[in-house]
Amino acid sequence: MAGSDQTRKSFKLRSQRWFDDPEDPGMTALYTERYLNFGLTRGELQSGKPIIGIAQTGSDLAPCNRHHIDLAKRVRDGIIAAGGIPMEFPIHPIQETGKRPTAALDRNLAYLSLVEVLHGYPLDGVVLTTGCDKTTPACLMGAATVNIPAIVLSGGPMLDGHYRGQLTGSGTIVWAARKQLAAGEIDYEQFMELVASSATSVGHCNTMGTALSMNSLAEALGMSLPGCAAIPAPYRERGQIAYATGQRIVEMVHENLRPSDIMTRQAFENAIVAASAIGASTNCPPHIIAIARHMGVELKIEDWDRLGHDIPLLVDCQPAGRFLGEAFHRAGGVPAVMKELLKAGMLHGEAMTVTGRSYAANLEGLEEPDREVIRAYAAPMKPRAGFAILSGNIFDNAVMKISVIDAEFQRRFLSEPPGVFEGKVVVFEGPEDYHDRIEDPSLGIDERTVLVIRNCGPVGYPGSAEVVNMQPPAALIKAGVDTLPTMGDGRQSGTSGSPSILNISPEAAVGGGLALLKSGDPIRIDLNTRKVDVLIPAAELAARRAAWQPPKLVNKTPWEEIQRSMIGQLGTGGCLEPATAYLNILESRGES
Ligand code: FES
Ligand code: MG
Repeated sequence: MAGSDQTRKSFKLRSQRWFDDPEDPGMTALYTERYLNFGLTRGELQSGKPIIGIAQTGSDLAPCNRHHIDLAKRVRDGIIAAGGIPMEFPIHPIQETGKRPTAALDRNLAYLSLVEVLHGYPLDGVVLTTGCDKTTPACLMGAATVNIPAIVLSGGPMLDGHYRGQLTGSGTIVWAARKQLAAGEIDYEQFMELVASSATSVGHCNTMGTALSMNSLAEALGMSLPGCAAIPAPYRERGQIAYATGQRIVEMVHENLRPSDIMTRQAFENAIVAASAIGASTNCPPHIIAIARHMGVELKIEDWDRLGHDIPLLVDCQPAGRFLGEAFHRAGGVPAVMKELLKAGMLHGEAMTVTGRSYAANLEGLEEPDREVIRAYAAPMKPRAGFAILSGNIFDNAVMKISVIDAEFQRRFLSEPPGVFEGKVVVFEGPEDYHDRIEDPSLGIDERTVLVIRNCGPVGYPGSAEVVNMQPPAALIKAGVDTLPTMGDGRQSGTSGSPSILNISPEAAVGGGLALLKSGDPIRIDLNTRKVDVLIPAAELAARRAAWQPPKLVNKTPWEEIQRSMIGQLGTGGCLEPATAYLNILESRGES
């Protein structure tokens, strides 16, 4: 547990087993000599100072996190000032928008390699540099498995984007601009310029997409210093909190304050509640569940509805609202949101954090936020704005983001009776099939159509593709219907404002009921009962199941094959299932 002066003195740092083991001078010499070759002294390595890893996620290939290359210098300064020795090392790059076929392949790969580094090298603690979507869960999953003192340093969002006087937010502007291009309102040049206007500076997506959501939830979990998540990447406070983070991890090592002290069941419940209040990305449930499983905390997809659905939306950020990262930070950021939730009795205030104090203690004396951007709990942007977890006769669970259902969607699709939609499905076999056929008039897509996409899950795609927020055909958009209900076994970008039914588990490729749907099947979506049912007789469904053949899956890389052989479904975090058996591995080796 969190330490006292007594615990400070009572244990030997694990790094000393490498660098200062009097019982094995041969190995000590071997371990030590090579770390001297860039200027460290034997005195430093044998002084008993904590060796602190800086897990570097930034590189030219990972531009959202590239700023961490500079921030790491301030982290080093902080570590040294507090009496530690920094050792920076690279993390497998995960670039959300640049990696083919999808960055979702790489979360578990980065996780796996981080576990190996934290376990196998002489590190006493680690600073996790996070930012772009999957870098945050990959780092937290790795720290959870090893259970070594760890602290998150977010890289921060880019500055706000602007185009002709309007705010343009990462990703969200892409979805809007695509519709404008399809409707012929803008040409290619304007389209490219409009989209690029959202990328203003170093940093990650400035909308409440998966990056800002996951960094906010890392803070909600208690794993970063208060206020860390939302500071824009270029602000001076970003460098200052990098320094403070470096200082703090050294103290955490002395206090033996570990992820298992912080990421408790209470912390995960706090994260679920925070996710609703910030209007978090639909990618958060699988990531948070994956972190919990690697921490040994049982968290179910149904917990998101049970604990989070009735929580109101407090943050006015795109895609659920209007503003971007800078305004969110200036309004008070995550601490201001957590304070609202604490005052409303919705938070476990006693949950421990990286500061060594409870969440409630961290929030003491906090000023009132800017109410235009962060609302009071009693006067929210939207009531009951958390995720709905749906199930039915063709799948066990799926996620729907309630906070992005706007009045127009509500009126058009969910009004008679309220919360219920009946229509017919048009089924696509994947993103390529969707792009090939969406404009085909013979599909008969109209405003009673549910667009369905399958073979996009963790096994099918592989990795799981962000494709469920399918755009209607251009003719329908021109006629004023720019959104249709959609569902699928893939994911969608956290920057998308589409109220899709996604992350359907089990996915079609492993024999989930979605595989049995045929275009033209009638379907009923009832948000009141959380049920999605295809309205065809059970005998017909059974006959289709009997005739179902698993798809032929083609692996393009060794990792695709390895991951496909052991990955679970999105409803249980999309984890490498054998890895979830390895809990607290330092302790199980007697190294804690
Ligand atoms: Fe990297 Fe959005 S693409 S943060
Ligand atoms: Mg994404």
